[in-house]
Amino acid sequence: MSRAPSAVRPDLFEATRRTLQREPKELPPVWLYDERGSLLYESITRLPDYYLPRREAEILAARARAIAAQTEARTLVELGSGNARNTRFLLDALELERFVPFDVSEQMLRTSASAIAEAYPQVSVEPIVGDFEHDLGALPTEGPRLIALLGSTLGNLYPEQRAELLASLARELREDDTLLLGLDLVKDAARLEAAYFDRAGVTEAFVRNALAAANRELGATFEQGRFGYEPRWDPEHEWMDIALRALEAHVVAVPELKLELAFRKGERLRVEISSKFRRDALERELEPAELSVRSWWTDRRGDFAVALAS
Ligand code: TRP
Repeated sequence: MSRAPSAVRPDLFEATRRTLQREPKELPPVWLYDERGSLLYESITRLPDYYLPRREAEILAARARAIAAQTEARTLVELGSGNARNTRFLLDALELERFVPFDVSEQMLRTSASAIAEAYPQVSVEPIVGDFEHDLGALPTEGPRLIALLGSTLGNLYPEQRAELLASLARELREDDTLLLGLDLVKDAARLEAAYFDRAGVTEAFVRNALAAANRELGATFEQGRFGYEPRWDPEHEWMDIALRALEAHVVAVPELKLELAFRKGERLRVEISSKFRRDALERELEPAELSVRSWWTDRRGDFAVALAS
């Protein structure tokens, strides 16, 4: 297992310091994905209302062979691989020499890499622990490479971060490489909100775990009882704004960052956005990076898309 340079803590601490002082206040999403968070996220992917993984699986099951034919990939890189469940459709269809799962969660990476290595003995599994916004230089160069970002992970970045990632991917990509994107599409707000607010409280536990992680790692004094979980659809930006809301005015200390955070009653603390996509807007986003959509597939209901770009 190799470790990319920015998996180091000072960078993360500095980024956290910055976003906690923004308006709205925000905890960077990496705080969600410690060991417990990664396990809770796995449970989210099995929730009935969280339709994304099943729609993506439907598309990949139908199109994996077309993806193999169009890309002729020998190296599959998956950015934000998590448990890599939907990746298996690709592993089954492609004739790969190597699979490179790339994730911030070392524990999850270990578990999923060894499961994949066992199930696909002919493939060399070469995991990288890191943050794909900064560490793309660590990727192996043997091609043709297929670089996958599944589970609508691209939507968890802000538009400026997406532009940066797409530009650095485009610099990294060679003639015979391709990019595969799993994208959740804009749809009815009630269905979107239901996908991020399950009755069993799994998603809420996942989001609250970011506070626990910040308390543990930063010595912060977040109190769960002073926040309520309140995800909401932002129709202007077309993203789910996933946040906790202060139930009363109070102050939270974050000693490791030398911060005192004053919350107003009702003030939100964002933990992640989940942008929803439209084909035309995505094509415009790809343009500055000189990438274009070669194939666009959706599930039968039109909930989710998988795009191949080069
Ligand atoms: N990539 C997932 C998404 O955008 C991440 C996610 C799922 C998530 N459920 C969440 C992030 C709940 C924060 C809170 O859908």
